[in-house]
Amino acid sequence: MKKVIKNGTIVTATDQFQADIEIENGVISLIGENLSTQGSEVIDAKGCYIFPGGIDPHTHLDMPFGGTVTKDDFETGTIAAAYGGTTTIIDFCLTNKGEPLKKAIDTWHAKSKNKAVIDYGFHLMISEVNEDVLNELPSIIDNEGITSFKVFMAYKNVFQADDETLFRTLIAAKELGALVMVHAENGDVIDYLTNKALENGNTEPIYHALTRPPEIEGEATGRAATFTGLANSQLYVVHVSCADAARKIAEARDKGIDVWGETCPQYLVLDQSYLERPNFEGAKYVWSPPLREKWNQEVLWNALKTGQLQTIGSDQCSFDFNGQKDLGRDDFSKIPNGGPIIEDRLSILFSEGVKKGRISLNQFVDITSTRIAKLFGLYPKKGTIAVGVDADVVIFDPTIERVISAESHHMAVDYNAFEGMKVIGEPVSVLSRGEFVIRDKKFVGKIGSGQYLKRAKYGERNHTNESESLTM
Ligand code: URP
Ligand code: ZN
Ligand code: ZN
Ligand code: ZN
Repeated sequence: MKKVIKNGTIVTATDQFQADIEIENGVISLIGENLSTQGSEVIDAKGCYIFPGGIDPHTHLDMPFGGTVTKDDFETGTIAAAYGGTTTIIDFCLTNKGEPLKKAIDTWHAKSKNKAVIDYGFHLMISEVNEDVLNELPSIIDNEGITSFKVFMAYKNVFQADDETLFRTLIAAKELGALVMVHAENGDVIDYLTNKALENGNTEPIYHALTRPPEIEGEATGRAATFTGLANSQLYVVHVSCADAARKIAEARDKGIDVWGETCPQYLVLDQSYLERPNFEGAKYVWSPPLREKWNQEVLWNALKTGQLQTIGSDQCSFDFNGQKDLGRDDFSKIPNGGPIIEDRLSILFSEGVKKGRISLNQFVDITSTRIAKLFGLYPKKGTIAVGVDADVVIFDPTIERVISAESHHMAVDYNAFEGMKVIGEPVSVLSRGEFVIRDKKFVGKIGSGQYLKRAKYGERNHTNESESLTM
């Protein structure tokens, strides 16, 4: 049955207007005033914005880390994402040195298939570049539609790749049409500072931040950008936490180097002092890179406003406080890194960003959806509201006030890092390819209905829906 959404205000990355949206066969079939509702289900969106579904470019669901596994998997994680207005995620597929890349991808397909309730794609971690890897990459791009590679410059002896690997990945990505993503921190220096701190008996969570100073995030960001310029390639820096790193991205862009930057809600609203909370509470706020001194927040907001940073990811990576974060009670370096944010990414950005006048409504859509779709080969199938695109739609009430809490969230984890925070604006209903996933704030989706997304190469459009739009 067709659906018609009436009385809402459509907001895209460039426009804002009142119109009806007709949905048929999973795509937006018409946009206009006073559309006929004959034979259609009518959805009233009075007083609400209609946004393209949020796209979260940075999630770790069902991911092994530090001897444990994230609490949220592709079922709980995507349900929570949908509650928060996200209809697409791109998760990181971890690889093991010496093993075929395809093996890792099959593992990630097994984790997600028949579980995800929204559509999803994968980035591929590159930890070494050799003949085998170079031979395999073209088929990963063409057959799997994985067009972004992730290189870790930190987590020594775990994920960290060396400079040669990063440089060769950039060169391969240029040739193949992929975007290289980096976790930019200097892992060697962190390793030294961590060992020194522990030797001196400094074991508390705050030392996580003190052993990962902002200078070495800036250094790694600048190094990755320099390599990108030399390779004439393209780079996306994930989870930018501080002024040092944001400045390096801006400098590279000024030189014409193709560098993009993502930040996350935690760096915009939380700060380093949270790591000093007593009774080991600080462990709830252990991310890498760490939370920074509060003054960095204004720099990050300004960078979003002026386009020096372009996207927001959640870096969803949830571990229980009891039983998982605990692993580091006597040694901060053993606290599993990461937190639960997939659900509140849009609400926090809307409330703290749009409502407080730091970014515009159109920027909000661009930062949480459209720009991400363009960078990761999903646009225009995903990331906008237009005739012929997937009907991934969020009906968002900008007046609802609520308090974020672990008691009401839908993530499978025993705390919320934003506990007690008041936000204004909430998704009321969320559709994925024309079907309700959330309706009137209740989950009504189907486990396993999410589809795997093959993505276009860097800089290319996603052609998947074009035949539909041309026949309409
Ligand atoms: O602390 C974090 N960010 N955990 C997730 C893994 C990563 O580095 O993105
Ligand atoms: Zn990272
Ligand atoms: Zn991450
Ligand atoms: Zn085309």
